[in-house]
Amino acid sequence: MRAKTAVVTGSATGIGRAVALRLSGDHNVVVNAKSNEDEGRRTVEEITAAGGSAVFIRSDVSTQQGVDQLFEAVREIFGRATVLVNNAGATRSAPLGSWDEAHWYDMLATNLVSCALTSQAFVGQLDRARAAIVNVSSARGIERYARIGVAAYSAAKAGVINLTGALAKALAPQVTVNVVSPGFVETRYFQRSDLTAEDEAMIDGWRKAVPIERFVDPDEIAAAVIFLAKEPAMTGANLVMDGGWTLTVS
Ligand SMILES: NC(=O)c1ccc[n+]([C@@H]2O[C@H](COP(=O)([O-])OP(=O)(O)OC[C@H]3O[C@@H](n4cnc5c(N)ncnc54)[C@H](OP(=O)(O)O)[C@@H]3O)[C@@H](O)[C@H]2O)c1
Repeated sequence: MRAKTAVVTGSATGIGRAVALRLSGDHNVVVNAKSNEDEGRRTVEEITAAGGSAVFIRSDVSTQQGVDQLFEAVREIFGRATVLVNNAGATRSAPLGSWDEAHWYDMLATNLVSCALTSQAFVGQLDRARAAIVNVSSARGIERYARIGVAAYSAAKAGVINLTGALAKALAPQVTVNVVSPGFVETRYFQRSDLTAEDEAMIDGWRKAVPIERFVDPDEIAAAVIFLAKEPAMTGANLVMDGGWTLTVS
């Protein structure tokens, strides 16, 4: 077992998984997902095969009950965590005219309420230990001309950036709180088996429209997360890692 422990929400796949793998070099890692147990266990196996220490906790961090389950497991297994990466999130689009309470509450709960509740529980178990929180927002959270179909997601991610500032100020100097805002990242969302040839052509068009002419790699976002988690002089910062994409939309 390592001396330090990190919790990475939504780390069965994608960006969270890349963050968990990187953090496992010097932390026990609590891997989490809402339902994808197979991929969660695969992440744990990869960490342990490389000599690291990790456990998978399935829980829904958009609910207080799920957050309590997660931190109960942290306490029982590792005692205390000093790094929290609030990465769990999901995008769902809904055109104006089709909006309903379920869509808006789902986007806000999954992407924003989860960060607030998890951060509170994390701080509650710290005692006086120095610690770091890194939130994962989105370039859509800072975008001035967000697409209307993803307005609920964008508003939730804008909330994550605002929440980061509030927490950073309230928790200094004990805890640093920063946020990473990725642009398009090469994850399962863009590699789904149900994509039509038309979808693929559209996604390829998006790739070419990014100034760096590709999407960002999950491991590049993970490197930014690790930097923010370890840099004591950074707090309240929003690190945009989007290959220049936001330059093209405002
Ligand atoms: N990919 C991009 O282009 C991109 C761009 C900007 C920002 N982001 C943000 O980056 C983060 C990671 O995204 P990703 O692309 O890596 O997505 P992903 O591969 O779909 O991973 C999302 C993870 O979050 C988990 N999750 C979702 N809701 C949860 C909940 N309520 N409780 C616990 N876990 C939950 C998922 O578990 P289950 O599969 O079990 O639900 C999964 O492990 C998200 O916050 C996303 O909004 C992504």
